[in-house]
This record gives sequence, structure tokens and C-alpha cells, in this order.
Amino acid sequence: MTSENSTIWCAPANIALVKYWGKQGDQLPQNPSVSMTLSRSVTTTVMKWTRVTGPPVHSFLFDGQPEPLFERKVFSYIDKIIKILPYLSNFNLDISSSNNFPHSSGISSSASFMSSMVLCLLRAEEKISGKPADPLEFYRNASTLARLGSGSAARSVFGGFNVWGATGAVAGSSNEFAININDRVHPIFKTYRDAILIVSSGVKSLSSSAGHGLMESNPYAAERYKSAGENTHKLIGILKSGNQEEFMRIIEEEAMTLHGLIQASSGGPILMEPGTISIIRRIREYRSHTGSSLCFTLDAGPNIHLLYPEDEAGEIRRFIEGSLLQYCENSNWIDDRIGDGCKEKPRV
Ligand code: DP6
Repeated sequence: MTSENSTIWCAPANIALVKYWGKQGDQLPQNPSVSMTLSRSVTTTVMKWTRVTGPPVHSFLFDGQPEPLFERKVFSYIDKIIKILPYLSNFNLDISSSNNFPHSSGISSSASFMSSMVLCLLRAEEKISGKPADPLEFYRNASTLARLGSGSAARSVFGGFNVWGATGAVAGSSNEFAININDRVHPIFKTYRDAILIVSSGVKSLSSSAGHGLMESNPYAAERYKSAGENTHKLIGILKSGNQEEFMRIIEEEAMTLHGLIQASSGGPILMEPGTISIIRRIREYRSHTGSSLCFTLDAGPNIHLLYPEDEAGEIRRFIEGSLLQYCENSNWIDDRIGDGCKEKPRV
């Protein structure tokens, strides 16, 4: 299917370890964040482009169907970036995306979606102009453009561990794009798995944009942005040293802080479900009995991500199946793990 006037990109979701929660200006973060890119939870986007003489008319399908809400977001994003990619004024785009995991349920579907679409847009630019971009520049531009659509998408372009947001802990880090830090991560963390337990696959009761907006009047915002900066520094050190104890502590503190901030915001909803809390309690019990390195994190939703090293995979699967699936919707979970980042699919 990939040809002179089409391309297909797969992009994975990522899970934030230090959370991005609060933004300013044009999609700039209030604090740096750190994430791990996943492997199996991916969005695939197919894009075809056709030159036109009049105003372009784009089409967008999600899972093969019209999806008016997503379509509006996609078209307004294309309008927003015409000044950066001027070719968009002269081409019709036919875009079709599909996820292999439930969207809008607290797994970063906007991240995988935006990054897969932006990579299509940049590949189209390259093919139309006939000028291949330097790969480093190509992916950095992809991260910048993805950020303009959804902040966390800046981090989904690259595999492994990534930092988005300026921090003294990582030279070259920026609020504009994410950078990859795999070369300073201890081998143990490169084996990490992420079991995503689906407590509820329903649409989130708090959209990300509304959630970030809540931080504007949150009384703890300034303190949060400071502690997120400090946690970024600490986590970068932990990832380097391989200290799993400290990793668990900071990851869970970040998850609980995110939900604490949401609940402490005026009008902020409770996003955890009873099943989320039961799972957290069971994880803590399990850890105290076994000395396991299993820890959890949460996005802005009820689903829970269990992070653990590969060498514990057998026991943890038994624990999930025996003790945790009872709290999941239809016993649903995704057995995911650290991944390599976006990929262009070859012609099929
Ligand atoms: C809780 O990136 O979805 O998942 O920039 O408005 O699209 P927008 O927000 P989004 O926010 C993600 C918030 C989070 C934490 C994180 O991924 O860092």
C-alpha cells in the first residue's frame, strides 16, 4: 500500500512515569515528563495524498467508519499546521486510522494516533518535495508536530524511555519536543513490561484538555510543577543506576499525585473506580509478601498499568490471572511491554 502517494505508519502508546499535567502557550508543558514507549498498543494510520487545484477536501475514517468528533480534531489540526507544512494547501488527504486497544479510556490513544498521523504528514512532505530529510531532524520534527496535536504524543515517536520538557537533568531537552534517553538507562529497565488492566473501557469522564485546564486554578499547581521537575531529575538518576526500589516509589508517587491533583481541583472528578483501588491494595499486599519489583502507574482514568521486569513475568501473570482480573471489565487486560517506537509499514 505504501507507494509514491501514500504511506502507512504504526505508532505505539506511551505510559508517563513522571506525568505531564498542566500546559501553557501552544502546547508547552508546565513541567518535564518522562515516559516509556509501549510495544503492542498501537495506532496504524494510512494516508494517501492527491494534488488539487482548488481548496483541498480531506477525509478521515476511524476503524473504517466516519467519526465526526475525531474528524473535526484532525481537520482543525491540519489547518493549524498549514503554516509549517505549506504543501497541505494543495493536497487532498485521505486519512484512515485504527487502534488495537480501546481509545479514550486513559491509555494514551491521542499520543499514538497523533504521532502516527504526523509521521504520515512528514513522509508525504518528503515524497512531494523529493528531498529526503536527515533522520534525526525528521523524528525531531515529528515529535514537535505531534506535540502541537497532543502533548504526550511528542514522546510516542521514539522507543524506550523519553523525556519531554526542559530539564537540567538531560542536555538538549526541550519544551518543544521529546528526546530519547535509552543510552543512559540501566539494562534492567529495558526489560520492563506493562500489564494494562482494563477496569473500564468507557470513554473518559475528563478529557485531557479539560484536565490540563483544571491545573490553571489548582491551588497546588506551583508546588506540583516544582516536584515534577525534581522527580524528573531523580528518575533520570534511577533509570541510570537500575535502582528498582526507588523506581517503584517515585512511579507510584507520581500516579497518586496525578489523581490527587485532579480530585483537589475545583470540579475535579474521581477517575479511579472501586476496582482500581482494590488492585492497588492487592499490589501492595503482593509486594509485601513476595519482595517483588512490581509497581503501578495510572493515566487520567481508571485503568491501571503494572510495571515489572521481564524476569518476574511468570509469577506476575499468575498473580494477575489469579487475583486481579476479577476487578477488570470482562477480565480484560493488555500484556504490553517496552517497545521500539514508530515504524513505517512497507508496501503490502
Ligand atoms: C495524564 O497529552 O493527552 O496522560 O496535550 O491535551 O492532548 P493534550 O494532553 P495529553 O495529556 C496526557 C496526560 C497524562 C500524563 C502524561 O501522559 O504525561
